[in-house]
Formats: sequence, C-alpha cells, structure tokens
Amino acid sequence: MTSFDVAAVQRDFPILRRSVRDGKRLVYLDSGATSQTPTQVLDAERAFVETSNAAVHRGAHQLAEEATEAYETARGTIADFVGAQANDLVFTRNATEGINLVAYAFLNATLKAANAAVLPPGGERFILSPGDEVVITEMEHHANLVPWQELAAKTGVKLKWFGLTDAGRLDLSNINELITERTKIVSFVHQSNILGTINPVSDLVQRAKQVGALTLLDACQSVPHMPVDVQSLGVDLLTWSGHKMLGPTGIGCLWGRSEVLAAMPPFISGGSMIATVTMAESTFAAPPQRFEAGVPMLSQAVGLAAAADYLSDLGMAAVAEHEADLTAQTLAGLAQIPGVRVIGPTDMSDRGGAVSFVVDGIHPHDVGQILDSHGVAVRVGHHCAWPTCRRYGVPATTRASFSVYNDESDVAALMEGIRSAQRFFGTSPALAQSGSSR
Ligand code: ALA
Repeated sequence: MTSFDVAAVQRDFPILRRSVRDGKRLVYLDSGATSQTPTQVLDAERAFVETSNAAVHRGAHQLAEEATEAYETARGTIADFVGAQANDLVFTRNATEGINLVAYAFLNATLKAANAAVLPPGGERFILSPGDEVVITEMEHHANLVPWQELAAKTGVKLKWFGLTDAGRLDLSNINELITERTKIVSFVHQSNILGTINPVSDLVQRAKQVGALTLLDACQSVPHMPVDVQSLGVDLLTWSGHKMLGPTGIGCLWGRSEVLAAMPPFISGGSMIATVTMAESTFAAPPQRFEAGVPMLSQAVGLAAAADYLSDLGMAAVAEHEADLTAQTLAGLAQIPGVRVIGPTDMSDRGGAVSFVVDGIHPHDVGQILDSHGVAVRVGHHCAWPTCRRYGVPATTRASFSVYNDESDVAALMEGIRSAQRFFGTSPALAQSGSSR
C-alpha cells in the first residue's frame, strides 16, 4: 500500500502531461536510465540561476557569497539524505566519474610512489604492487568494470570477479578465494541495473574488512529507491548519480569515510583544489575540495538538494514500498504471459524495481519498439552490463524500471504492450496454436 498520494506526485512532473506517438499517454518505465524531474527541482535551479549565480569559493562579492552558501548547503542536505557528514561528500559529474576517481586514486598513488612524490597521509594503501587484486562482480554496469580493466592494463593489478547464480544472485561460494590478503578493493553494485538484485553488502564488507581491503559501492540504483545509510552499510566509499533520483544531469556524488578520502591523491587537478602553488609544485586542499577542481556544478547541486528534499518528504521507506508493489505486480503479470522469461530474481526478496525480460521469438529491440508505439518507454539492449547478458545467454533484454510517479496503470500498459507485440509478431502461444501468423 502506497502511503503517499501518487496522483499528486504525478502532477509535480510536467513531462507526464505530454503525450507521445500520436496522442498516447506517456508511460515512463525507464527511470533506471534517467528519472524525470519535478517542478520543485526545476524551480530551485531556476531560482538559484536567477538570483545568486556566481562562481563558488572565489570572489568577494555578495553573489559569490550567496552561491557558495547555496552550494555548501546543498552538500549538507544531500549528505544528510544518506546519513553522511557534509565534508565526506564529493560532488562529481556522475557515478561513472566517482568510480573513475577512486580507480585513478590507485593509479596516481602508484605512479607517484614510483617517483618518490609526496602522498597524502595514509596514501600508501592506494599504492599497487605486483600481485595485488581488485574484485568486482559479473553483474556490474560497465561503469564499474571498464575503469578497473583500465587500471589493470596500466598497473598489472589482477581483476577478479564473483560469478552469478542461475537465479540472478551473486555466487558467494568462493568468497574467501576471491577476496584475499592481496585484495586492495572490492567494488560492487548495491542493486543491479539489469537484474534488479539487491546484493548482500554486509557479507562482502565483512570479508573485505578481514583482509584489510577497501569497499566501494555503486549505489546508482539504490539511493533513489530505498533508504540508504552510509554508516550502517559499512562500506568505505559509495557513489551515485543525481539524474536517477529526480535531480539534474551532470551531477553525482562520491561519499567516503573521512580517513579514506583524506588518503586519496587527487584525480582531476587545477583551480580550487590546492593548498599552495609555486611554479615548481603544489600541495592540495583537504577533501572534498581536493576532488572538485574547477568551477563545479552549481545550479545542479542546488537542484539535487531539492530532489533529496522531495524524496525525503515522501519518505524513502514509502518510496521503497511503493516501488516494491509495482515490481511485484510486474513480476506477477509477466508470469501470466506465456513465452516471457524474467532475467533476474523472480521473487521479491532482496530485489528492486529493475525488471528485465525476454519474449520468445521477438528481439528485445522489437519489443521496445512495439511498446513505444503504445506510449510505453522502456530501455532495451545490454544495459551497459554486457557480461551479465552473456552470463544468461541473451543478447539483450527489455527492461522496465520504476519511480515514484508510476502506478498500476503503467504496469497494465506494459503487459498489454507485450501481448500486443506477441500478436504483431505472431508469437503469442494462443495464436501459434491456431496457426495464425503476422
Ligand atoms: N545506467 C543506466 C541504465 O541502467 C543508464 O539504464
């Protein structure tokens, strides 16, 4: 039972008032890719730009002061949203940049150590030696795979990964062989963007701690959809994108434990991230400024704080419950359609609202096209998780994903669209039995 007024929420999202494909109601089931934006976020961004726009942390004028105040207040609001301290929250462009920032901390520490350059206190834990290992999983988004492959190619560090069970879960049976004394970091997804699986964070954190490895959680698909508290998760680093949580594009966050961030050398260097500069060398500011070179995203930070406030007003437990209802309805609906197979867990335990499926005899792109002709927007393809598709023997899937503005009628539209695709392609088992074809 949803405890907030979904119709009122829908009225907050102007885009839901438009129609698509010759007057069809827009049924937006692609929030896993990017979510839509409520008026409250648009208003906050506009008010900032109209009244206080100026480069932050520079300038002695009133606008610069107001902009800095708005930017740092936004940091505090967003940090609060995930149970963090403001100074432990770095603004990045998105989660991809957050993960690259961490991967480059390893590369840069290793290169600097080789040149006897100064590292931040504690920076030794980011130096890679031959035989060191990075552990990920087979359900990672490319954003949490390719940066580690790149790090391996540059440093020789060994990349290892957890496999997956047929049911769409992490196979932890060899956890002690995968996470060893040689492991420098375990980087894994909280909720899979393709399978919907919610991973057992505490199991991985516990083992990583035993061997002294760092942990990084890709929380892109969890922070927007469920209560997330960085302290109780126990990880060292956590990253997510703003545009999937009703916020603007071009802004994301990397949270880290104070001592971990403090030990990391910078990723992008330039203005505003320094302590001192001479022609020969520089020293660096403390986090978060160390990782925010250049004039940062300003109205985007203000907008993201407004998105956090919007979700907090609904209540993240209520958001999770609402989306769980829709997910359960979707899984039940798909189970009723012969020829449809869900790729990912089919039960609701430790499962979020990204539902991938394949339809016998119809390529996922064709399913997506027929759905689109009904006004139903879904994502099709490998979802930037190509190895996961390979693991389940499919070239691609069709994926529905939810947010606060979806309701039962959206699930019904999805089911009707799939049946329509089966009729169009003549793959409906009922039609096949009667010999009909397209
Ligand atoms: N990572 C986004 C998705 O899963 C783009 O669709």
